[in-house]
Amino acid sequence: MAGNSFGKLFKLTTFGESHGEAIGGIIDGCPSGLKLDFDAIQNELDRRKPGQSKIVTQRKEPDTVEFLSGVFEGVTTGTPIGFVIKNTNQKSKDYSHIKDVYRPSHADYTYDKKYGVRDYRGGGRSSARETASRVVAGAIAKQMLSSIKINAFTSSVGDIFIDKPYQDLDFSKIESNIIRCPDEASAERMIARVQEVKKEGDTIGGTITCVLQNVPVGLGEPVFDKLHAELGKAMLSINAVKGFEYGSGFCGAKMIGSEHNDKFNEDGTTQSNLSGGIQGGISNGMDIYFRVAFKPVATTLQKQETINSKGETVEMQGKGRHDPCVVPRAVPIVEAMAALVLADYTLLRRQESNDWK
Ligand SMILES: Cc1cc2nc3c(=O)[nH]c(=O)nc-3n(C[C@H](O)[C@H](O)[C@H](O)COP(=O)(O)O)c2cc1C
Repeated sequence: MAGNSFGKLFKLTTFGESHGEAIGGIIDGCPSGLKLDFDAIQNELDRRKPGQSKIVTQRKEPDTVEFLSGVFEGVTTGTPIGFVIKNTNQKSKDYSHIKDVYRPSHADYTYDKKYGVRDYRGGGRSSARETASRVVAGAIAKQMLSSIKINAFTSSVGDIFIDKPYQDLDFSKIESNIIRCPDEASAERMIARVQEVKKEGDTIGGTITCVLQNVPVGLGEPVFDKLHAELGKAMLSINAVKGFEYGSGFCGAKMIGSEHNDKFNEDGTTQSNLSGGIQGGISNGMDIYFRVAFKPVATTLQKQETINSKGETVEMQGKGRHDPCVVPRAVPIVEAMAALVLADYTLLRRQESNDWK
């Protein structure tokens, strides 16, 4: 299986399946001399972990990370950082009913057809459990980028949206509720909607907005590795993601140029920021902001018709502990993937910029 690594200079490779011994990763290229705050890393994992509130899956995994290499007396050594997170709460028999059955809109059919060997327990490698390793690496990347602010939050659940621009939100409130929405009134409505859907054994989609502030001018590698292209790839690699837009996004397509152009101030900042902080694939120093759309996840607890590996029509019903809505747990994953891109592009810029002296 290829495609398990992300990044060019700050490079993460992840391994592991949902119900195997452990998941983990290797970060190659993290600079030496970075003093790690291990509590901050664990805190990011706790924001992603299952069982954290009544509106997420009730699996109980402590998700404790153990570092195996690349760190000496709390400081990175410049050698590969290896880490593992043990799997401790597997209930593989919750999945025996789908051993030969493909859940509609999950990865069961495509993995089976491609590899011919299917680890059906907990979704195997296709499980979002893999993203815990991304969160560890992202937490280290965040520490490397301490002057950049990275904030993601739930901006919609179903058709309930925050109806304010991000500039009017107080990011210090993101963690004040279980849906991770900084607008209290919207948060309450979103939580109620998830609970309603959960009661019916169904699932619901949503969006996460992410804002990157204090990003220096000059991150991004034209032409194929534009900063927004890499952010898009990072976000679209997260399980259940169906859409990515940055800056004016799809709304920009409805506008005319005289409305859309960001007028310069004399210091190079712009009066508006429909470009979303990136022009020509390179950061321009303004806020970078983007939205990521998550589908309602596939495993509903309702009866559905599907097929089995023999191609026969069968009825199945999801069992076990699933997320009715993934966005609250995906907020730290979005931040982690953004941090990985910025760390990688910061190292690339050091190599290639015209201010290397
Ligand atoms: C944080 C998070 C939690 C998830 N939890 C579940 C879940 O409980 N049940 C489920 O069917 N899918 C869940 N998913 C989504 C699946 O991993 C994903 O839909 C599946 O791998 C198929 O990939 P695709 O939807 O990207 O095509 C979750 C995704 C994320 C990001």
